[in-house]
Amino acid sequence: MSHLQDSINEYWTDRAPAYDDYQQRPERRADDIGAWARIWAAALPSAPADVLDVGTGSGHVAFVLAGLGHRVTGIDLSEGMIARAREHAVLLAEPPAIRVGDAVAPDFADRSFDAVVGRYVMWTLRDPAAAVPNWVRLLRPGGVVAMVDSTWFADGLGNLYGDRPDATLPLADARSIDETASVLEQGGLVDVRVTPLESILELDRQHGVAPGHDVQLQYLVTGRAPQV
Ligand SMILES: C[S@@+](CC[C@H](N)C(=O)[O-])C[C@H]1O[C@@H](n2cnc3c(N)ncnc32)[C@H](O)[C@@H]1O
Repeated sequence: MSHLQDSINEYWTDRAPAYDDYQQRPERRADDIGAWARIWAAALPSAPADVLDVGTGSGHVAFVLAGLGHRVTGIDLSEGMIARAREHAVLLAEPPAIRVGDAVAPDFADRSFDAVVGRYVMWTLRDPAAAVPNWVRLLRPGGVVAMVDSTWFADGLGNLYGDRPDATLPLADARSIDETASVLEQGGLVDVRVTPLESILELDRQHGVAPGHDVQLQYLVTGRAPQV
């Protein structure tokens, strides 16, 4: 795969332990799972549905969705993140399947999922415009894409991934979430909607956010595969 993708994978593998520990903060965990469960339940078809979590990382979304009764597969290209997700998975009776896989070109049969989801992933895809049509192909008619993201690096990504220029990650320095919505629309989804996640903003204000980050409003961006 590309040198850029290698840099992305290495970054997340190095960061995986700290990222995952932060996701598991005990003082926030119960509120967090409750808030995210409500957000995903409202966005997705009724359980049990077949759901693909792209860029699953240490599996936060995949585990919340499995808890809602969905049949979940989580894919990621960072070995460190996958290792963390698998450590959590072995503790569950009915865990999500965790696999190494590319969010831009997921290797699954056409029409094998009811939903493709992702959290904090659109911004870091090397080619989001190529990814969305691939997700549409995986969806059964009327299936849903639901992505959570924000305008994390509106002032530029800087050297997060080493000396790669910002422009190589098309959504990293988006100034408006409408840029993400527009990529979903142009990728073939219909009824694209943007919903601000006020409940998560409130939790971030109460508990604070990761070192080096500011509290920022996050958004759920959804779209449906056309009925054919
Ligand atoms: C900010 S983390 C988000 C993790 C998780 N979704 C969450 O909500 O905590 C971004 C993740 O996207 C993954 N990622 C980036 N590009 C990817 C790609 N092309 N295929 C699979 N995973 C990718 C990274 O390895 C990393 O685990």
